Amino acid sequence: MPKDPLTHLYSHETLTAQPSAIRDICALVARPQVRSLAGGWPDPAKFPIKAIRRILDDLLTKQGDQLLQYGSTEGLEDLRKVLAERMQTEGLTDAAPDNLIITHGSAQGMHLAAQVFINREDVVIVGLPTYFGGPGAIHSRGGNVVGVPVDRDGLNPNRLRQEIKRLNVAGKRVKGIYVIPNFQNPTGVTLGFERRRQIMDMAETHDLVIFEDDPYVDLRFEGKHLPSLKSMDRTGRVIHLRSLSKTFVPGVRLGWAFGESGAIRQMVVAKQFSDAATNTPAQYILLEFIRLGLLDKQIQENIKFYRAKRDFMLAQMDRHFPREATWNRPQGGFFIFVKLPKNMDADELFQRAVDKDVAFVTGQPFFVDGSGQNTFRLSYSQVGEEDMEAAIREIGNLIKDSLAGR
Ligand SMILES: Cc1ncc(COP(=O)(O)O)c(C=O)c1O
Repeated sequence: MPKDPLTHLYSHETLTAQPSAIRDICALVARPQVRSLAGGWPDPAKFPIKAIRRILDDLLTKQGDQLLQYGSTEGLEDLRKVLAERMQTEGLTDAAPDNLIITHGSAQGMHLAAQVFINREDVVIVGLPTYFGGPGAIHSRGGNVVGVPVDRDGLNPNRLRQEIKRLNVAGKRVKGIYVIPNFQNPTGVTLGFERRRQIMDMAETHDLVIFEDDPYVDLRFEGKHLPSLKSMDRTGRVIHLRSLSKTFVPGVRLGWAFGESGAIRQMVVAKQFSDAATNTPAQYILLEFIRLGLLDKQIQENIKFYRAKRDFMLAQMDRHFPREATWNRPQGGFFIFVKLPKNMDADELFQRAVDKDVAFVTGQPFFVDGSGQNTFRLSYSQVGEEDMEAAIREIGNLIKDSLAGR
């Protein structure tokens, strides 16, 4: 590549930004012949194309002028109203439109939240492993992230306590915690109820902001719904981020952030100087989709659909993976996380798998401390049964080969 003539003009944050290794892997394996368990994208088979076409047609006929006009930065008032009502049913009884900003996906919500709260050198604690969106947003503000292990019950509060203490002794300002409470990306694990309480107590004691990234909460296949950190928040320090990517469609890029009206107001100001407003037609379509009762129906269908996919993948793993590999049984979401014996390298397995036109995502890019070399993530969201079976069989054989030193 030719030398970039503008390098000396780039900001410090630009020069230190790392592109998402996971997105790079997904792009690398996007060849049509590859059986990919890599991308965590929803299955287009569930996109409500007909309903969207009908709604859009109707809206264009009846209110095309409004539909195609700029909108307010915080988002459509009526949409914020119905979303606030939905939040009320989740234990946030005082939820009002002022507590809510419509964003371009929960990704933008996190980005705006980081802009509002993070100064250079602030530290935010994240899971080991964690989805890259949180760390990326923190880094874009010149902040730093420090990892705390995620075990089978989610972020470990004892380790969290130790880490905060260690950082405080080292004179670092710990500003917050980035947490994905339900069916975490990449591990699929859910933060236990007691841990939620402990984390909220710690946040109060140490005056921390909680960035609660919750895009998978509506895709619970079984078990009891757990209260969000936001619903346990007595002091208004949780910014709760939601997505419509997994329950409606990802391409419209819709989500919302929920928090105290003051913090939401600050996020609105930040958004004014970013993209000014969220896609107006997309918001109107979603509003109508909700009013017609189609979102709730779609959520129920998606739960059934992805539950069957999870069950199928787990059954194939039981059949084809050797005992030495271990994995979890997620109660929702899109992901299963696999641990290989400590001395095995998932990157090497990945290279061998790609040679056989099979793909997954190695775990290491999700660990901000560079560990996790013996782990990988499987996603059941996008593939059909035939490809899933073939891919799992192949990966199982490759693990067995590795174990046998072949
Ligand atoms: C934990 C997590 N947060 C945020 C996102 C991004 O969601 P959205 O499409 O709403 O921006 C994803 C998507 O994969 C995710 O897994």
